[in-house]
Amino acid sequence: MNYEVRDCIDAGTEYCPCHLAESGECILCSQLREKKFCDCINWKGVCIYQEFVWNGKKAKEGRKEIECILLKKEFIYNELALFTISVPHKLAKELTSPGSFVFLRHPDSQHFFATPISIMEVDVEENRIVLALEIKGIKTKNLNLINEGDKILVKGPFWNGIFGLKNIYKSKDASSIVVARGIGQAPIVPVIKKLYGNGNKIYIILDKSPYENTFIKKIIDSCNCELITTSVINDKGEIPAEFKNILLSIIKNKNVNLVHSSAADIINYNVLNLIGESIDFSCCNNAKMCCGEGVCGSCSVKNKYFNIERSCKLQIDPRNILEGRKLL
Ligand code: FES
Repeated sequence: MNYEVRDCIDAGTEYCPCHLAESGECILCSQLREKKFCDCINWKGVCIYQEFVWNGKKAKEGRKEIECILLKKEFIYNELALFTISVPHKLAKELTSPGSFVFLRHPDSQHFFATPISIMEVDVEENRIVLALEIKGIKTKNLNLINEGDKILVKGPFWNGIFGLKNIYKSKDASSIVVARGIGQAPIVPVIKKLYGNGNKIYIILDKSPYENTFIKKIIDSCNCELITTSVINDKGEIPAEFKNILLSIIKNKNVNLVHSSAADIINYNVLNLIGESIDFSCCNNAKMCCGEGVCGSCSVKNKYFNIERSCKLQIDPRNILEGRKLL
């Protein structure tokens, strides 16, 4: 297992220092973890302690819910809808990076109905975001009550929807593999765009299930990706031989710099085990999020090595989260 390199996704942004600093639990700053010395891990060029003092020893104002308009609601499959929402220009610009997400809420519903949804596409000229929603649970059914042209509450930007982001950013001018299943197709769109922009040839191994087809074909084509469709999990929760052969043959024959997996944790873990330690890895963050601000604790996960608290903010190598996790 790798040495645990921790980072905070919000460090150095306009949302830092946050409530964690106020309560002596800052992820990075030792002074704000009730120590009497500076032992800042992962220096970001901004002294969080100094920012805290300058701000009157208070947390910065957090993200606010903004009233936006649902421009378009398009059902692609039975339970899968694409929401196109008009947002302020600043928010659109802040949601372009891989791992970005927002909380959505029906204006007539209580705060606990807010649900985190990954950003699929952003148009910074038209100030629009597109999100894929599986209309399955109480929160998404509630969001589905909103009609085109109605108000929708959007809170953001949040950025920790992917673990191992630095591996995506540093992957340049080689081949990258992206594995996705079902709704996991939506958050790979910004990943594909980033990898393509960095000069990589992208191989997408896609399990369409439970949908009949892929709903990101346009982006796959526009980024010149090679699409291979296959099943990535069998009934026993194992990797099917066909998927294994496809993945290993690309790794053997191409100069692969990254494998990104966007599926359930059991699949992400299987992929990680298969590729070993020699290739960089990133995956979606499947933690259950409630506040997104490091306060409620609902996103905490445990493996046999660590208690990983606040995975809504903690950016960490996915190997350190997936290894030793109970996945079934
Ligand atoms: S979602 Fe509340 S602490 Fe992470």
